Amino acid sequence: MPELSKELLEQYEYIDKLTPIMRVRARGTVPLAHVVTYGCQGNVADSEKIRGYLAQMGFGFTEDDEQADFILFNTCAIREHAQDRVFGNVGALKNIKRRHPGVIIALCGCMVQQKHVAERIYASYPFVNLVFGTHVIHKFPELLYKTIVDSKRVIEIPDETGSIFEGVPLHRDNPIKAWLPIMYGCNNFCSYCIVPYVRGRERSRESADIIADANVLISEGYRDITLLGQNVNSYGKNLAAPKSFASLAQDICELDGDFWLRFMTSHPKDCTKELLDTMAANEKMAKHLHLPFQSGSNRVLKEMNRRYTKERYLEIIDYAREKMPDISLTSDVIVGFPGETYEEFCETLELIKKVEFTSLYTFIFSPRVGTPAEKMDDPVPYEEKSKWFSELLKVQEQIAAKRTAAMVGQRVKVLAEGMGKTGISGRTGGNVIVEFEGDPACIGKFVEVEVTSSLNWILKGKQIV
Ligand code: SAH
Ligand code: SF4
Ligand code: F3S
Repeated sequence: MPELSKELLEQYEYIDKLTPIMRVRARGTVPLAHVVTYGCQGNVADSEKIRGYLAQMGFGFTEDDEQADFILFNTCAIREHAQDRVFGNVGALKNIKRRHPGVIIALCGCMVQQKHVAERIYASYPFVNLVFGTHVIHKFPELLYKTIVDSKRVIEIPDETGSIFEGVPLHRDNPIKAWLPIMYGCNNFCSYCIVPYVRGRERSRESADIIADANVLISEGYRDITLLGQNVNSYGKNLAAPKSFASLAQDICELDGDFWLRFMTSHPKDCTKELLDTMAANEKMAKHLHLPFQSGSNRVLKEMNRRYTKERYLEIIDYAREKMPDISLTSDVIVGFPGETYEEFCETLELIKKVEFTSLYTFIFSPRVGTPAEKMDDPVPYEEKSKWFSELLKVQEQIAAKRTAAMVGQRVKVLAEGMGKTGISGRTGGNVIVEFEGDPACIGKFVEVEVTSSLNWILKGKQIV
């Protein structure tokens, strides 16, 4: 572990002060925390830090909010729907607070980093005790201490600090698969997206810190490591000693141990051949590329400020397939960007049919406060966009079913993750779910599975080795 900074040492002092306080406040034998995470894996990784701090303070964890002494929602702002859900669920906490006045309720994450949301929470949800933004997660013990000891509401949402704080403890949920953040923030300002406003500018962790973390994960038995960043392809550009993402991935692949290395998300504008070559050359790199294209229309891509064309995107895909014929491709797509016509939407459909993705994350455009797209003319009604959306889903369902059906009869390497509905559940390197008959002792290990049938996008099979 790197030497702790002054800021982090202070937080450990707050942990020491909080531990006896929380023991006394707990309704049960140990204090219990209920942590709910919305949004992307970046948020999941942040929640692992907060839970790490909580565990150090002596907290146990509960799924039941009625039992909890501390409730935290780590929120997401990516679409209106995500936010509405949080507002609804926070509103429901009022009754819990009425029944258990001692419970501490906290909100953090991307949603509260927006000024207008923080103001609304302050005014409309007086039972929320603590609200903190995305740039002060490392200060959580101090903020919780102030909330309890000063017994007043604490709202801490500073603009970005620009720093990275190493040494925050982690509490992970999954003993096999791990998220490993390599960078924070985003510089791309896609015109529809709130992330750069709520996560600040791109900052990369030192590669030595990342590699040390990867080493620990491997020695602890993690078999599936996903490197995280909004645009991993621009990793390392701002480090004192710049380093490419491909070379970081290469360094991790060279660590001893049996594991798969994945990454997300990769932006097509700077997805390099070097990276695809590194993937192809290393058995440890899962043959899975999540490369969001968002739209198949060059006009729409330009309006989105994505800075690549459909042709460039297809070139990358061709190169990836040439180097790794069995690569699994997944992507994100937005339907109904302001001003998108049905013809332009059809170009998106064409691209989907051409590439034949393993799976797609599909979204209807949602205007975000303060982004350029929020102010663009948006004449197509939501009902019409919903029809296009259903059309897209149908096309993708057929493609996914066809792709999984084509795998029947193959032998695939699978990481066994746990018990599923009809057998052991695991995933291929391409991230396709496999349910198979086999020895439950294999959970947590790599096995060979013969695919015997497919059901929509899921494979069925039996363990061979
Ligand atoms: N950094 C990643 C994406 C992170 S957000 C990248 O650039 O690929 C995850 C996905 O949410 C995006 O890829 C996009 O498809 C979707 N998304 C983001 N903002 C949106 C909005 N305002 N409306 C609808 N979908 C949105
Ligand atoms: Fe949002 Fe674009 Fe950054 Fe992805 S690259 S987080 S879509 S601004
Ligand atoms: Fe949501 Fe923030 Fe992630 S807006 S998608 S939780 S970076």
